[in-house]
Amino acid sequence: MKVLVVGSGGREHALCWAISASPLCDALYCAPGNAGIADVASCVPLSAEDVDGIVAWVKANGIGFVVVGPEAPLVLGLADRLKAEGVKVFGPSARAAALEGSKGFMKDLLAKYNVPTAAYGRFREVDAAHAFIRQHGAPIVVKADGLAAGKGVTVARTVEEAIAAVDEALVGGRFGDAGAEVVIEEFLDGEEVSFFALVDGETALPLASAQDHKAVGDGDTGPNTGGMGAYSPAPALTPELQERVMREIVEPTVRGMAAEGCPFTGVLFAGLMIQDTAAGKVPKTLEFNVRFGDPECQTLMMRMKSDVLAALVAAADGVLKNFDVRWHDTVSLCVVMAARGYPGDYVKNTEIRALDAAGAVEGVTVFHAGTKRAEDGRILSTGGRVLGVTATGTTVAEAQARAYEAVKRLDWPDGFCRSDIGWRAVGR
Ligand code: AMP
Ligand code: GLY
Repeated sequence: MKVLVVGSGGREHALCWAISASPLCDALYCAPGNAGIADVASCVPLSAEDVDGIVAWVKANGIGFVVVGPEAPLVLGLADRLKAEGVKVFGPSARAAALEGSKGFMKDLLAKYNVPTAAYGRFREVDAAHAFIRQHGAPIVVKADGLAAGKGVTVARTVEEAIAAVDEALVGGRFGDAGAEVVIEEFLDGEEVSFFALVDGETALPLASAQDHKAVGDGDTGPNTGGMGAYSPAPALTPELQERVMREIVEPTVRGMAAEGCPFTGVLFAGLMIQDTAAGKVPKTLEFNVRFGDPECQTLMMRMKSDVLAALVAAADGVLKNFDVRWHDTVSLCVVMAARGYPGDYVKNTEIRALDAAGAVEGVTVFHAGTKRAEDGRILSTGGRVLGVTATGTTVAEAQARAYEAVKRLDWPDGFCRSDIGWRAVGR
């Protein structure tokens, strides 16, 4: 089978790394890819959001299976277009991608199918939004309805902050059309966990849990990022809780999507808050994403023992019912190296050296997220998040030590990372 992976980040490098090891894969391509991906796949110079270009290239090159990494092309209908051309694809239709693409759609679906989530309201009118905030008080959470590159959520500590967030979206047009409607919801306290399940339209197969570190600074301080590191599994999601998440959150969502006429196919990424209540730990849904997490995917791919390509094809073919995925009995941990300045304006085109030395640490794979190879062969940074230094180990502490040993061996003066990835799990 000839396979195309769409995207250019650390998630796509991890997917390409795992897929390239599959005996089912005869040739692997990635659009547009990066310098690390080029080691395991042929890079195709097409933007991940160039739907027309990708569809035409896939047809011209006899690609048998397409794996879509990021959400934007899914929301733009890439999976629908490929299917219409008879090409097998891993990833949801545009209508099903609304689970991530419209927070209002997602909240209404969860309410209709009794899936536990924060209480909420949807607003297009400023006065009604202000009144709702004043009525409920702070803390309270304001979210732009559409995709806002991870910047659309304000966890407001005061009523004034919440009102300012509403005004920025509805009046100031900060998020354009994506912010023409806002969801305002109840603040949930607890521990956050990411959970992933493969879905074939009808059946959901649990994959694994992970914990992300969204804040840029040590001790979870500073502005939020796309994710500065992760580890898997997340000890907070005990086997009992995972079973509950499947029964109370994932399965009713999958049934609900099918009942609404937009069955979900792909990977369902549930952002969960595990609340500590008088009745014990209770999982609630913060958000759904319709793709693998980045950097969570890097930790998942390093733990997966089964052939990932076979699993993704089974999801696309609708045959997950009799499928099973095996995991290595290890934990994995990813430390993201970002370019100085990230998540604000960051430096670009700075040289990264000693990648081989870092990758030589036992159990370590360095995934590239934002790199390119210069004509003279040097590896240069091109993005905000640049590398995902990922390690396996028998314990989180071991994986953590290995990842930071690899970070130490890297020679990239313009990069930085958090020094405490995995702190919650190590402390447990
Ligand atoms: P989202 O993009 O919806 O996941 O929101 C981004 C981040 O905001 C989440 O990872 C949480 O840390 C936080 N967040 C979102 N919704 C809530 C909520 N209802 N209560 C508390 N924190 C939230
Ligand atoms: N790491 C969080 C995300 O991929 O959305």
